[in-house]
Amino acid sequence: MKAGFGERVIRAAAALPREFRPKTAVVLGSGLSGIVEGLGPASDWREIDFASIPEFPRPTVQGHKGLLFLSREAAVMAGRFHYYEGHPMDDIVLPVFVLREIGVETIVLTNAAGGVNLGYKPGDLVLIRDHINLMGTNPFIGPNPARPDGTAFGSPGHGSRFFDMTATYDAKSRAIAQRAAKETLGRELNEGVYAAFTGPSFETPAEVRMARALGADLVGMSTAPEAIAAGFLGMRVLGISCVTNMAAGVTGEPLSHAEVLAAGRGVEAELKSLVRALLDKL
Ligand code: HPA
Repeated sequence: MKAGFGERVIRAAAALPREFRPKTAVVLGSGLSGIVEGLGPASDWREIDFASIPEFPRPTVQGHKGLLFLSREAAVMAGRFHYYEGHPMDDIVLPVFVLREIGVETIVLTNAAGGVNLGYKPGDLVLIRDHINLMGTNPFIGPNPARPDGTAFGSPGHGSRFFDMTATYDAKSRAIAQRAAKETLGRELNEGVYAAFTGPSFETPAEVRMARALGADLVGMSTAPEAIAAGFLGMRVLGISCVTNMAAGVTGEPLSHAEVLAAGRGVEAELKSLVRALLDKL
């Protein structure tokens, strides 16, 4: 991170209302922001425009609104920042630090992803078991972030230079999600490994074959930086991918962002019931 990152986090967190202390946050990916409507009674939610939060960048991608919803139960980010938009990694992970700073302990990272595993189909929801970061960089390159008073960010015992990622994608949260899926959708979900590329080009068919050979089940352009930040902070991560398309080369059909958004809208109802059920259980 750049020097001064800690100050930026504190400035952003200080601008948020204090009466909410949600323990769970949900980040909504491309085309998935619609699920925020109906998560709970509107009166229970405070809607905050990213633009009104100091230090928060503004999303530029189609399908991302850039709103933070806060309630006592959860924080929901409708919109996130991607590396391919040109945001520095510091900006991509800043919201995760801010959420931890206001008390969040478990973060649900949703995304749209291409299906690499040939057993998947568009419209599937897949729980992320682990990731492979193929972005060629890491948000923690540079000075190790700390609060302006020198104390470490995150849960006690966390915030060190070399940090463990073994259990970041938390097995217990995944088990809770499987129970929620069974109750609300009537089935268990596949669990897979997410390979993160920078985008914005979709992968080539050869890159998709490489990802499969490396053990990936999904490809996407987000989530890994935020999960790494959550690992640093000692937060639990539950990753949920919406398979919006089979990855390049699988069907031979060309890929398009419009298709990704349309498929995202198609799984919105299922994702909404799953997230709704999860907020009560996580
Ligand atoms: N690749 C990368 N990111 C994606 C894809 C894909 O096929 N689909 C949705 N997001």
